Amino acid sequence: EWTMENFIDLEIQKIKEEVGDKKVICAMSGGVDSSVTAVLLQRAIGDNLTCIFVDHGLLRKGEADMVMEEFGKGFNINIIKVDAQDRFLDKLAGVSDPEQKRKIIGNEFIEVFNDEAAKLKGIDYLAQGTIYSDIIESGTETAETIKSHHNVGGLPEDLEFKLIEPISTLFKDEVRELGLELGIPEHLVWRQPFPGPGLGIRVLGEITREKLEIVRETDWILRDEIAKAGLDRDIWQYFTVLPGIRSVGVKDDVRTFDYTIGIRAVHSVDGMSSNFAKIDWDVLETISKRLVNEAKHVNRVVYDITSKPPATIEWE
Ligand code: XMP
Repeated sequence: EWTMENFIDLEIQKIKEEVGDKKVICAMSGGVDSSVTAVLLQRAIGDNLTCIFVDHGLLRKGEADMVMEEFGKGFNINIIKVDAQDRFLDKLAGVSDPEQKRKIIGNEFIEVFNDEAAKLKGIDYLAQGTIYSDIIESGTETAETIKSHHNVGGLPEDLEFKLIEPISTLFKDEVRELGLELGIPEHLVWRQPFPGPGLGIRVLGEITREKLEIVRETDWILRDEIAKAGLDRDIWQYFTVLPGIRSVGVKDDVRTFDYTIGIRAVHSVDGMSSNFAKIDWDVLETISKRLVNEAKHVNRVVYDITSKPPATIEWE
């Protein structure tokens, strides 16, 4: 009989047999798939697993601390946090083309990961949180022609490691069920999707530290208000973007010339198509007020009311 408990026992058994007392590394992003993979492996092989968490400087506020706290401390997983902000931001300086930004971030991620992996001696295996839909999608590659998607788990196969992909037969909802069964808290198992290139594709055009900070802060406020309104499980994905335009405003009778923030909130099943979420005006008003009052250099808020297609969910 197929139950999630049986699946866990079976997978742990398989991993133990395959890996023995050899060592495994895993790229941890804090997303559902890599988190579930890491917790499962930790159960099977304990300290012979080392996770690498790359802080590329394009993360949401509180993300790195959350991962270290919840998975490092909470699940007792060996996690190395790599502070690579400068490396990424240096490479991205002066680059404004979306596809080029994506490629730089993807390539740099692999380089940082390889550098860290090389420092750890005697690693035989690389664990990846590939799920069933990843395999199907990379077979058809439809999305690939629109944007080059970069998955934090998607490392090149010419690495000198053997691959373990313990959840590659599962669909997303099964991965969530598995996560809950493994004791991962609901708020982590039900996280909204977050793109590999992170906030780097939500600052439109050239990325600067100041602009990143504005997107990070406004995203934090938006997430807080969506949760307070009880909409965090209802809306599939929600975030802020910084288009980079500035407009005239007035604060305390003084003229301002500051940034516009866009809010994106969508309903979707798999990200392939989406409708904008018809968030209540009162909720939007509260969000708008907080954004202009609390985030620096923001004096205007707009709401994205386009579906996908013709728009995509992210703006880059
Ligand atoms: P788009 O913008 O293509 O996004 O409509 C569809 C979904 O995919 C996410 N997304 C990404 N996820 N790596 C990822 O892992 C990426 O490079 C990437 N780009 C977009 C996006 O957040 C949305 O959920």
